[in-house]
Amino acid sequence: MSISTHAPKGGQTPVGRWLEERLGISGIRYAVPEHANSLPYLLGGITLFGFIILIVTGIYLAQFYNPQPTGAHDSVVYIVTGVTLGDLIRSIHFWTAQFITLTVLLHMLRVLFTGAYKRPREVNWYVGLGLLAVTLGLVFTGSVLKFDQEAVEALQHNAETATILGALGAWFSAEFSRSVPLLTRLFNGHATILPLLFALFITAHVYLIKQHGISPKFAPQAKTRPTNGEGQSRFDVHLKRMVGYGLLTFGVVLALSLLFPAPLGQSGIVGVELTKPWWMFLWLFPAEELLGSKALIVVPAILGGLLALVPILDRNRYLAPKRRKTLLSGAALILVVIIISGIVAALQPVAQHLG
Ligand code: HEM
Repeated sequence: MSISTHAPKGGQTPVGRWLEERLGISGIRYAVPEHANSLPYLLGGITLFGFIILIVTGIYLAQFYNPQPTGAHDSVVYIVTGVTLGDLIRSIHFWTAQFITLTVLLHMLRVLFTGAYKRPREVNWYVGLGLLAVTLGLVFTGSVLKFDQEAVEALQHNAETATILGALGAWFSAEFSRSVPLLTRLFNGHATILPLLFALFITAHVYLIKQHGISPKFAPQAKTRPTNGEGQSRFDVHLKRMVGYGLLTFGVVLALSLLFPAPLGQSGIVGVELTKPWWMFLWLFPAEELLGSKALIVVPAILGGLLALVPILDRNRYLAPKRRKTLLSGAALILVVIIISGIVAALQPVAQHLG
């Protein structure tokens, strides 16, 4: 269905015209391709909406969280038991983090599958990789803050990989600062450094999406090209759809939070391993069993390197998956290995890896 891009500017009401004159809101009525409104092409937008939920709930939690190692766990117990809506807000923060980790990975797979990283969108692929690193960084730093057994073990793995990395890992070691404990610095990373990096990357990401338009549909003969200013739909329609899915996401996250509040274990004991990592890091467990803590550096570095090679290796202009069989088969194989590793790790008993 074709939608007019010439609807009356600011509507008929005086308020509408007043707002239009000052804010130029009708500028968001530019043309976008119809396929941009389908769910696979809204996964990035859903992730963005999730980040807004995380920022709002995170600001609330930061009013009560104590980032000193001696008080951290107690302050989380206080959030759960003593703060108005503390348990619910913490659970929404927890479940949204789980949800956006999934949607950002699915968004990346969509971009990979549809060849949307190809010329002229290569730079946005790399900005996306930056966003992925920031997202995983936020999840990791967030998971250590509660300072229960799971968190203390994650922190010990962090310290061990920092030692292996030497000078490169100095910031992640306890010795980096004599005046501020590692947990407090990781909280700084979680609440200031990483959100700032997120803001920079997402601004670049959205700017580049606007510059190039969304990639064309991957029809058998379709070739990569810019699409800005083209399409049968409009950006305001796309935005409404994005907000709709975002609100649905919030509903799901709210239901999960009420049914399954975010877990909190006992205060952590240093030097033992009694828990397993969260699902997004769990697949590394078998590699760690095999190679020790250096697997936590080597395996993500190899995967990151392969993702960085994607736009360099696959440069033909076709978008159809049939014409990109080698790259997609390789990616599918790696995905299967990761999923199998995750299942093996879930079934494996907890093991001592540290030291
Ligand atoms: C916090 C993480 C991210 C957010 C919030 C985000 C947001 C978005 C949004 C809103 C779009 C518009 C279309 C869509 O939703 O599919 C988009 C497109 C795009 N994203 Fe992301 N993104 C993120 C991570 C990534 C990652 C990890 C990659 C890949 C490594 C990536 C690469 C791209 C590319 C290449 C496009 C253009 C796609 C096209 O034209 O079809 N993004 N992103």
